[in-house]
Amino acid sequence: MPMMTLHETWAAFNARFGSKLEALYLGHGQPQARLFEAMSYSLNAGGKRLRPFLVHLFCQACGGRPEDAWNAALAIEMIHTYSLIHDDLPAMDNDDYRRGKLTNHKVYGEGLAILAGDGLLTDAFRVLCSGTLSPEQTVRCVRVLSENAGPFGMVGGQVLDIEAEERECTEQEVLDIQSRKTGCLIRAACLMGVICAGGTAEQSEAAVVYADRIGLAFQIRDDMLDVIGDAAALGKAVGVDANKNTFVKLYGLEECSRLVSAYTKEALDALSVFSEHQLLSELAAFLTERNH
Ligand code: IPE
Ligand code: IPE
Ligand code: MG
Ligand code: MG
Ligand code: MG
Repeated sequence: MPMMTLHETWAAFNARFGSKLEALYLGHGQPQARLFEAMSYSLNAGGKRLRPFLVHLFCQACGGRPEDAWNAALAIEMIHTYSLIHDDLPAMDNDDYRRGKLTNHKVYGEGLAILAGDGLLTDAFRVLCSGTLSPEQTVRCVRVLSENAGPFGMVGGQVLDIEAEERECTEQEVLDIQSRKTGCLIRAACLMGVICAGGTAEQSEAAVVYADRIGLAFQIRDDMLDVIGDAAALGKAVGVDANKNTFVKLYGLEECSRLVSAYTKEALDALSVFSEHQLLSELAAFLTERNH
């Protein structure tokens, strides 16, 4: 059978992953039906599903069984979605649109949006512990995910991001924010993929290098798209980070473009320890030019 292209693989993954996401809260209606509805609303709004796709691809690159990666993939998308619901709240970025739809608090109100985020965060760990992994693999995934999502990781980065508003940051400070607020969940996704396949320590190390480089390139591109992007394609408003310490503010657009390519090249160089890494290479390259 000829190998599927990146886009075919992504589409096939998304179709199966999408139905698993939809199934999560079906039939769990009463009495807190509105909470499940709010959680499902954002989960099923249709993001790119980059992080779960990375779990899937790294599991595959390490020779693992696809079914062993499903629950880690669901868990990371649940945590990422919670982070976006909270990121969009009036107390944080105060955004009205996300994934082409009204933000969660615009539809359900702030109280329920906060609790929908809390629900997704907590339930991600139930889902992560309910898959086909061995107890040892499960514990390793729980550790990787909690470390990278919590105060040492993404939450820490979001705090630095808020604290840095309305003041000039040094390059190091911008990198410290990025590596946590965006980099950490991408890192957790890649590492969990290796763990789900029972990969080696060398493969974990390479996954971390790849993740950190594409994570950086991803946030630089996110900041560029806030300036040059199209709101309809992005599914979120543009021009909203004008007062923030973005990479565009730090380096300017042209240098940002150059850095996205340079970091992506470093990501590709890390992949040589995987015998099958064509799709991971194509994914990194695709992300450099993404418009949404
Ligand atoms: C947006 O992430 C937030 C950042 C970390 C830059 P994505 O661009 O992956 O958002 P979705 O999941 O596709 O909506
Ligand atoms: C969001 O960063 C990062 C997290 C939600 C952890 P941004 O605030 O730049 O993301 P967008 O631009 O709203 O998607
Ligand atoms: Mg933000
Ligand atoms: Mg935001
Ligand atoms: Mg942004």
